[in-house]
Amino acid sequence: RTQLRGDEVIVVSNREPYLHQRNEDGSVVVKRPASGLVTAVEPVMRACSGTWIAHGSGSADREVVDANDRIRVPPGHEDYTLRRLWLTEEEEAGYYYGFANEGLWPLCHVAHVRPVFRESDWQRYREVNQRFADAVVAEARSEDPIVLVQDYHFALLPAMVRAKLPRATILTFWHIPWPNPESFGICPWRRELLEGMLGSTILGFHTRYHCKNFIETVDRYLEARIEHEHSVVSYRDDETFIESYPISIEWPDDETVARRPSVDECRQAVRRRLGLPEDQLIACGVDRFDYTKGIVERLHAVERLLEKYPRWIDRFSFVQVAAPTRSSLPEYRVFQDRIKEITERINTRFGNDHWQPVRLLAEHHDSDAVNELYRASEVCVVTSLHDGMNLVCKEYCAARDDEAGVLILSRFAGAARELNEALIVNPYHVEETADALHRALTMPRAEQRERMASLRMTIREANVFRWAGLMLADAGRSRLRERIEARV
Ligand code: G6P
Repeated sequence: RTQLRGDEVIVVSNREPYLHQRNEDGSVVVKRPASGLVTAVEPVMRACSGTWIAHGSGSADREVVDANDRIRVPPGHEDYTLRRLWLTEEEEAGYYYGFANEGLWPLCHVAHVRPVFRESDWQRYREVNQRFADAVVAEARSEDPIVLVQDYHFALLPAMVRAKLPRATILTFWHIPWPNPESFGICPWRRELLEGMLGSTILGFHTRYHCKNFIETVDRYLEARIEHEHSVVSYRDDETFIESYPISIEWPDDETVARRPSVDECRQAVRRRLGLPEDQLIACGVDRFDYTKGIVERLHAVERLLEKYPRWIDRFSFVQVAAPTRSSLPEYRVFQDRIKEITERINTRFGNDHWQPVRLLAEHHDSDAVNELYRASEVCVVTSLHDGMNLVCKEYCAARDDEAGVLILSRFAGAARELNEALIVNPYHVEETADALHRALTMPRAEQRERMASLRMTIREANVFRWAGLMLADAGRSRLRERIEARV
């Protein structure tokens, strides 16, 4: 917060941090969407105030927002302004569903889903980027605001804002992986995307590896000067500093921890709700229903566990929370159906009258419900095929103040670089994940405690305020340098 004294902060993201929806009785409910980006950026915005510009996608009811499309949030605290932009169906189809989620999402995750590039989606993507850039310029009260641009929905926006506000400090954070130059090079508009991003003052990724991939991509496709020593790319008149800033979560404060129901209460509540016997061990998965999350591979590992270690039959349940996401896209619908089929097949193969090994809860759960499940689960399984960071694994550890529980984590999630005490697996290797499940379910309490305590220490220190603080400190240095240079 101190780093921002006197500076104006504007965040731009596609996903809004709060959804305002009207119930049937006319009352308004406020919900939080399932988004790693929102989980991470929202606490930072609460601390530093300013304006958050987002697409009013989840707030179906436009009238519940005031006449200027502006509302102070969070409800009851009103720390910052949420400014919504409303997109037409055509804009949403081309920019969000089309170019962002059928093009850039599979392109960057290299998840064996072939990216789709349509000329019309690209046009909408450009137009919507321009609309958001115009909104940033309109919101700015100073010539040099700090603009925090979030994610792959806005690759073109940094250069668009730079054109109008040359003195702005633009921090762009790419929340998903950046692939190698060959993979990225198949995008027909690779040059335009790179040029757009290089309008940023600072461009952040989760890991050094993604930074290296980005710099190599620029080197391959643009005539830019690259200073490897300082990670600076000079292109035309702009300099962009490329750095890794591993994102994280807000570490729960003492008051939050004190308010939590005990682990025993959570165990009982979850087992009662799902109709599981008291002595049943639970492993959980909590994801958006997305093909990058490795849910198929995870179910195959559960199946292999039951085959290879039949002692778990009747004694273990795998509970998968899968929040529906981007369901208008065929890839997502096919994927959801496939998971339902595999679940049924495994349940038919191993289940009996009183026991089903897999529980699929295909609906959005609020954070209290998710925390209850984390505290009730002996194991949490994160098997993303590729993930920028992944925050579920960090949330699970943060929920385990009893220092019990085991985390199984994909080596292809950015988080695997920090969370060394998890059981790290290759999610494509079903046997290895099944063995890790068995090992987790039989791990002695002392070993669990040792691993969990260390994981918790890492996450508590490298929390989301450190993520934002590191970026803002670099922004502060860059602003100071500019002020000094302007005086010369
Ligand atoms: C990922 C992306 C975010 C996005 C979230 C949820 O974490 O990096 O930008 O908000 O998924 O996806 P959705 O499309 O529902 O916003």
